[in-house]
Amino acid sequence: MKNYFLLLCAAFFLFASSNPAQSSPIKRYDKTTKTCRIFTHATLWAGYKIFVNNCKICHYRGNKQGVKFIYTESKVRKGWNRVFAERYPVCAKNGSWGSLTEEQIARLNDYLYKNAADTYDPYDATDCG
Ligand code: HEC
Repeated sequence: MKNYFLLLCAAFFLFASSNPAQSSPIKRYDKTTKTCRIFTHATLWAGYKIFVNNCKICHYRGNKQGVKFIYTESKVRKGWNRVFAERYPVCAKNGSWGSLTEEQIARLNDYLYKNAADTYDPYDATDCG
C-alpha cells in the first residue's frame, strides 16, 4: 500500500513537471527597482484597483477627450514593462500619475504584465474568474 502511494506521488510529480502547458509567470523583473517581483492574488487585485481608479478614469472606451481606450491586452509584456521603465506616455510626464507611489506603480505594472496580450492560459488557476 505504501509503495503504491509512493508510485502515485512519483507519477504525479512526473506529470506535473512535464506538463507542456506553461502557466503564466507569477514573477517579473522590475528594471526601475532592479528587483524580482513575486505576485500573489492580493497584489494583482491591488494592481487591478489602481488601474481602474487611476488610469481608466481617462482611458475608458468611448471617452469624449479622445484618449485611447487602454486595457491589459493593449500591450504585450515587454510593452508594459517599457511603459513603466521609461514612463514615456504623455500622462506619465504631465503629472497624471502623480498621486501614485512607486510601489503602487510597480503593482500596476505587475497586474498589466500578468494579463498582457498573448498571455491567457486556461490551465492557470489565476487566469480564470
Ligand atoms: C488625466 C488623464 C489620464 C490619466 C489619469 C492617465 N492617462 Fe495615460 N494618457 C493620457 C493621454 C491624454 C495620453 C496621450 C493620448 C493617447 O495616447 O491616448 C495618454 C497616453 C498613455 C499611453 C500611451 C498610449 C499608447 O499609444 O501606447 C499609455 C500606455 C498610458 N497613457 C497609460 C496610462 C496609465 C498606465 C495610467 C495610470 C497610471 C494612465 N495612462 C493615466 C491621459 C491619461
